[in-house]
Amino acid sequence: MASKQPLKVGMVGGGGGAFIANPHQKAIHFDGTRKVHSVALHPDPKVAMEEAENWPYPVKGYESYDQMIEAQKDLPEEERLDYIVVVTPNFVHFDPSYKALEAGIPVICEKPLTLKLEESDKLVAKAKEKNIPFAVAYTYVGHWTSWFSRFIVQSGLLGEIRWVDSSYMQGWLADKLEDTGQQQASWRTDPKQAGASGAGGDIGSHALEQLRFVTGLDVTEVSAHCECMVPGRPIDDHFTVYGKLSNGGRCLVRASQISHGSKNDLGIVVIGTKGTLKWRQEDAEAVTICLPGQPDRTYYRACVEANDGFLGDVPQWLLDEPTIPFGHVEAFHDAYARLHREFEKDVRAWKAGEEWSSDGSRYANVDDGRMGLAFIDAAVTSHKNNNEWTKVDLG
Ligand SMILES: NC(=O)c1ccc[n+]([C@@H]2O[C@H](COP(=O)([O-])OP(=O)(O)OC[C@H]3O[C@@H](n4cnc5c(N)ncnc54)[C@H](O)[C@@H]3O)[C@@H](O)[C@H]2O)c1
Repeated sequence: MASKQPLKVGMVGGGGGAFIANPHQKAIHFDGTRKVHSVALHPDPKVAMEEAENWPYPVKGYESYDQMIEAQKDLPEEERLDYIVVVTPNFVHFDPSYKALEAGIPVICEKPLTLKLEESDKLVAKAKEKNIPFAVAYTYVGHWTSWFSRFIVQSGLLGEIRWVDSSYMQGWLADKLEDTGQQQASWRTDPKQAGASGAGGDIGSHALEQLRFVTGLDVTEVSAHCECMVPGRPIDDHFTVYGKLSNGGRCLVRASQISHGSKNDLGIVVIGTKGTLKWRQEDAEAVTICLPGQPDRTYYRACVEANDGFLGDVPQWLLDEPTIPFGHVEAFHDAYARLHREFEKDVRAWKAGEEWSSDGSRYANVDDGRMGLAFIDAAVTSHKNNNEWTKVDLG
């Protein structure tokens, strides 16, 4: 059988000391079935070309993402990019994503999907009109344990979900780091580049998506505090949202960038009528299930394989899924790789004219990305109106 040609990926952003482009390029190359082929790395065309020259392996450099996307139109189909990944600051998500969709190119875009909800609406409409795969890079739903947690909730082991506490705590913006010119802090604390919420958009959106992915529930109404603890910062760095869930339950979605001692402390506690599930990304291989009157059970992937029957029938696809045999540690890079791997499956099926389903069960899709913006919008509105209950526009 002929071996698969690697998918050709175009990267928008990634030059000049960029942060998240590097994990993406590792994830793209993780399985040997995808490669970074073309890059538009910087807003300055000259720097973009210099950075492309200095990329650690040969790539086709472009002066801008406009040029990269435009160039695809003149290429024979087999030479065109198979998808693009957008790893620019939030205010440069909508334009390249929309233009790629218009040119018929699938997209993985970083979170939060856009600056404004109206832009997310346009991306949803365009992706549907063109019938093109679109992913939003909510990394942490790519952990095997996120998939396992989703399975546990769906299996009914916890009963009806009453309460979810989903939080992402960090401490790196506890001082005014942006005043030093630090790149990632500078744009994240500027509402024009980051969006209406700082901590909420940057990491509260992860906490929300973790809740949505694991429970399958939406947050329908919010009462929010979008607070700024560091004087003089024009955007929230501490975000606390009390919410109503689509099944009538309640939730707390929290994000903080001023919490000394926390690094990337994303965690979720799901409490049902029969039991509780706990997971933290800083110990990402472990899921703890607590049932009343029984000792807590902490499952590492290896214990799930040796299921004693307590978990019911764990589906084979879930057991087959880990990238390495149980007992070897999986972490952040594996989660990112899983996102690209699942997206690759959809892109290959889409290209072959076969059935594909970007249904949100393996990675966050464009609708999930839009929900992030709808949630942020509602939270910011609630905060401005004395934390009054505000409906989330579910689309
Ligand atoms: N999913 C995650 O876990 C995760 C983690 C970190 C960041 N992010 C998201 O990734 C995005 C980038 O964040 P970062 O921290 O890597 O930012 P960064 O500042 O480190 O990198 C941004 C990159 O975009 C480039 N860029 C800016 N404007 C451009 C343009 N017009 N054309 C081409 N390139 C351009 C910059 O040159 C730089 O290379 C943000 O949306 C952020 O929210 C996601």
